[in-house]
Amino acid sequence: MKSNILIIICCCLTVFYACSEQKPKPLNPNGDSELAILMREMHENGLEMKAQLEKGELPKIKVDYEKIKTAKETPNMKPDKMVFDLFAQSYVHTMQNLEKCTDIKQAKTLYKNMQTNCMNCHQKMCPGPIVKINQLLID
Ligand code: HEC
Repeated sequence: MKSNILIIICCCLTVFYACSEQKPKPLNPNGDSELAILMREMHENGLEMKAQLEKGELPKIKVDYEKIKTAKETPNMKPDKMVFDLFAQSYVHTMQNLEKCTDIKQAKTLYKNMQTNCMNCHQKMCPGPIVKINQLLID
């Protein structure tokens, strides 16, 4: 039991180091904010999780979702920090539950909650990426 946990921790560390080596190219000529890069990863991982659920597998969370609370945004992209923090909190809460979840049906419900969390914040703050968030909808 203990050694299983160690193996899991080692795997996570390997994945972490492997991922931190590939730096995404900035799409924005002024450089991408930490928050924008995190959001792109959240979207990509969202598409992967959707595909996993559609195959009947438990979704694998690859993003460091807690970072949403501290990642630096593009200037003026968080007009109301209090509103942002509230939405960020409910997103993090959903992800914590999803990470612990071992039941596919429940995982699907939590995944849908996550998609709603993305949508709620974006409707209030930053409507541009809503098209991308709609790609995460699942039946
Ligand atoms: C708490 C509010 C909030 C939540 C929750 C949230 N976003 Fe965002 N999102 C933002 C803000 C603010 C930006 C602008 C970031 C910047 O430019 O620095 C952004 C930017 C983006 C972008 C554009 C990134 C780019 O290339 O510039 C995408 C795509 C995105 N979010 C997808 C998502 C997805 C998918 C989720 C859910 C898994 C999500 N967002 C959840 C607030 C949020």
